[in-house]
Parts: sequence; structure tokens; C-alpha cells
Amino acid sequence: MRRKVTVVGAGNVGANTAQKIAAKELADVVLVDVVDGVPQGKGLDMLESAPVEGYDVRIVGTNGYDETADSDIVVITAGFPRKPGMSRDDLLLANYEVVKSATEQAAKKSPNAILILVTNPLDAMCWTAMKVSGFKREKVIGMAGVLDTARFRTFIAEELNVSFENVTAMVLGGHGDTMVPLVRFTNVSGIPLSELTDQATIDRMVQRTRDGGAEIVKYLKTGSAYYAPAASTVEMVESILKDKKKVLPCAVSLDGEYGIKGLFVGVPVKLGKDGVEKIYEIKLDDSEKAALKKSADAVQELVTVLQQKTS
Ligand code: NAI
Ligand code: 2OP
Repeated sequence: MRRKVTVVGAGNVGANTAQKIAAKELADVVLVDVVDGVPQGKGLDMLESAPVEGYDVRIVGTNGYDETADSDIVVITAGFPRKPGMSRDDLLLANYEVVKSATEQAAKKSPNAILILVTNPLDAMCWTAMKVSGFKREKVIGMAGVLDTARFRTFIAEELNVSFENVTAMVLGGHGDTMVPLVRFTNVSGIPLSELTDQATIDRMVQRTRDGGAEIVKYLKTGSAYYAPAASTVEMVESILKDKKKVLPCAVSLDGEYGIKGLFVGVPVKLGKDGVEKIYEIKLDDSEKAALKKSADAVQELVTVLQQKTS
């Protein structure tokens, strides 16, 4: 049977995500946006590259949700991106309304779908989507850790002049300034990072990772990153649709793991056909635990604002 992925939000991240899903022939794609003509035009444009690129998938753009019915995965990228000087958290209330509305409509049409959230502030938007959809926690997953880890891996590979593929890293926590790059779990083909460079260089790369989103916003001036975010989202989509069972850092709703309950925080998980198939609770040292707690506290602050708004 053909697989179907809905991508809500036909902007920079959404359109690139849709295009990459099609190019990899992972599924038929439905692109949804509120702006009349934009998803239709972008969807048709992508479809017209099929004969050249050689992919056989259907791509349709729409302003409604009828075409999204029975999607296997719904990716939500709808919302506002950051502008220079804004933090991801400044987007909270505006994007809450967008994600609420998109989730309600998508979940109604695809009650068995897996939701992948991209819209910022990521961890609070995941909380919103789970609350609105009523889906179980295995089926609501946030994309951020894959991106943050990809940035850390990029900086390490460039610094050490080695293949990007050889760098394994892990960035946990919320998708914000308090994210937690775990140096102890980072290596190049098994060689610990600490044996390959000095602490000052490691500290610099960790900070650049934390500032990775802002670095791109500063260059672009009118929006935020989208190529690496789309690639990261598609890695998650692919692992689910092909049941690859990749172990990736994703935002999931914790229920006591890492001492955190009822909050979405980035941790290593196994992604397969059922969504989150396992949450790995790795042993952290005291400073790593403190950093993760600080990051979870930052997520809690945003969720508290939403809880007050919705109570
Ligand atoms: P964009 O502005 O290019 O696209 C957003 C699209 O959402 C627009 O086309 C807009 O018309 C659409 N939209 C707004 N309200 C909608 C609604 N109710 N229903 C359907 N569509 C709606 O923004 P971009 O760059 O694609 O970013 C999208 C979101 O993803 C932002 O919140 C951004 O901060 C976030 N993001 C998160 C990342 C992560 O790591 N989690 C990485 C990159 C971006
Ligand atoms: C990023 O990290 C904006 O969250 C987005 O690039």
C-alpha cells in the first residue's frame, strides 16, 4: 500500500521536507498551508520535477485537510519563524494557536498517524499537539535533537578535518539555549572527542552548537534555518516508514525517565513503525544531570504559560 505523509506549513522547512520525502520516494505527500495558492503551486512544481528526478510519488498542495485523510505521518512545520533578536520562546503564543488548529484538523482526519512536530518553541509545541490530539506519547515526537546533533557533528568534523559521517554525537534537552551537548558520548569512529582536541576547543564547539539556530538567523535576517531542519525531519520520517529503528535524539513526553514527568525533552529514542519504540535512559554524571534539569526547567516555564492560558 502507498504511504502518505502530510506536511503542514508550506514555508521553508515544510516545502524542503516535502521535496526530500518525494526525492527519496518515501511516500505520497500532501502539503497544507493557510495561504491560498502557495501549497498548490509548490506541490505542483515539485510534482513537475518527478520526471526529471525520476521519483514516482504523488504530491498535492491544499488549504484544507480532506486530502490528508489516513496519513501515516503528519509533520507540523506551520507557524512563524524567528527574526533577528528573537528567541525561539518569543514565538510561544502565536505558534500555540497555529499548532493547536493544525493538530486538531490533522488528527481528526488521520487518527492513527504519527505526529512529528517542528514548529518552535519545539518542546512546548509538542506538549500542545499531544494535549490537543489526545494521541499516546509514542505517537507525538519533536524534531530538534537530530538537528542540534547534526550541527555539533558538523563543527567537530570541520575542526578535526575528518568525515562528517565518522562523527557520532548526542545533544539532549530542550531545543533552546539550555540544550545539552553530551561531550562524553561524542566520538570520531569510536575515539572520544576529549582525546582528539583540547577542552577550550570543545567548549567553543559546544557553545556554537547552542547558538547554531541564532547563527543562521543572523545571516538570513528574515527567517531561520531550513535545509538542515528539513533533512533532520526526513531522517525521522524515513526511520518510521522503513521501520529502520534508528536511535536518534528526539523530543518525547517523559514519564519519570531522567526524573522528568509530563514534559517533552530531547532524549535518545528508537524510531520505528510504531513511532517511539524505546526511550533510552542513559547514565548521566552529576553535571550532565544538572544541565538536563536546567533545560527541562526552561521547557516547564513555557508549558506553565500554556497551562495557565488553557485552564
Ligand atoms: P516559514 O515562515 O517559511 O513557513 C511557515 C509556514 O506556515 C508559512 O507558509 C505559513 O503560511 C504557514 N502557516 C501559518 N499558519 C498556518 C496554519 N494555521 N496552518 C497551516 N500553515 C500555516 O517558516 P519556516 O522557516 O518553515 O519555519 C517553520 C517553523 O519551524 C517555525 O516555527 C520555526 O521556528 C520552526 N523551526 C524549528 C526547527 C526545529 O529544530 N524544531 C528548525 C527550523 C525551524
Ligand atoms: C533552528 O535551530 C530555528 O529552531 C530553529 O534553526
